[in-house]
Amino acid sequence: MQDRELGGTGLRVTALCVGTSPLASMPGLYGYEVDEARAVATVRAALGSPIRFLDTSNGYGAHGESESRIGEALRESGGIPEGFVLATKVDPRPGSSDFSDARVRESYRESLERLGVERVPLLHLHDPERIGVEASLAPGGPVEALRQLKAEGRVDWIGVAGGALSVLRPLVDTEVFDVVLTHNRYTLLDRSAEELIAEASTRGLGVLNAAPYGGGLLARGPASTSKYAYAERGDARAAAERMQAACERHGVPLAAAALQFSLRDERIASTVVGVSSPERIDQTLSLAAQEIPDDLWAELGRLTPPKSSWLND
Ligand SMILES: NC(=O)c1ccc[n+]([C@@H]2O[C@H](COP(=O)([O-])OP(=O)(O)OC[C@H]3O[C@@H](n4cnc5c(N)ncnc54)[C@H](OP(=O)(O)O)[C@@H]3O)[C@@H](O)[C@H]2O)c1
Repeated sequence: MQDRELGGTGLRVTALCVGTSPLASMPGLYGYEVDEARAVATVRAALGSPIRFLDTSNGYGAHGESESRIGEALRESGGIPEGFVLATKVDPRPGSSDFSDARVRESYRESLERLGVERVPLLHLHDPERIGVEASLAPGGPVEALRQLKAEGRVDWIGVAGGALSVLRPLVDTEVFDVVLTHNRYTLLDRSAEELIAEASTRGLGVLNAAPYGGGLLARGPASTSKYAYAERGDARAAAERMQAACERHGVPLAAAALQFSLRDERIASTVVGVSSPERIDQTLSLAAQEIPDDLWAELGRLTPPKSSWLND
């Protein structure tokens, strides 16, 4: 597994990162339940694989189930393996929008307890669009709290992870963050995050691209879902059908093209793929290794939906 520099952090991360929001069992987002045994087995498989990077969040699951299940697997296996990078994110308490300094510290304490670790090297501000740019940057707000945690040596690096680009881009411009994570906005079907990725990598931030399958559509296939980025999107499904037909003509799984679209971009340090069963780890590695002919990339380029149908937020 290839590893890459995470911006200017000095950390090296594998080009694939295990995304763990499905492990929290969120049927509203993904359409299925995931029980604890399956989640723990998935993390066990990840820990034993060449992938050395895992992404979670305080807010995955109403009671932090993603982190607790990761913690369970880590305890079983004797802690974080050498060279493995574990990243989490700070969230308001469920049902609240409190992103105060006190809540950021409490969120981080909860995460460490659930994960059973003393610290994580990388801590993100999660979905700042919930409070907006001004409140994120206000005195006593979450950005100041994260900067303080870093100054106190409680974390090595801080990131901002979110959706709406109108919030992510000004936060990246502050030059406070070491890492940015965007999701669902740089895929076969949507290029809204192109400028963010260009700017962030020019500024020397580590860029993480999450949800290369648009939350599942490009992995499970358009016959199984019409959701893109966790919402009904008939137009995305139709575009995915055209892309799937092109992939089939070349004998390539649509999921391989979707994954490698992100992996082949050198500006992206790591691509965060959501999985919730142990066999997904090997499947992901083989999708990443699949040969994709230049002709197919050209065809997929021509089939890219127009800008007007991207998330563009
Ligand atoms: N704001 C943020 O910080 C933010 C937002 C979005 C995502 N993320 C991170 O990025 C990760 C990825 O996003 P995501 O999980 O929402 O979307 P995704 O990676 O685009 O897709 C995940 C979905 O694809 C399915 N899948 C994965 N590999 C597959 C395969 N080989 N064959 C068939 N289906 C496959 C998964 O199914 P199974 O569950 O059955 O494996 C899951 O339903 C998240 O888990 C999270 O860690 C962060």
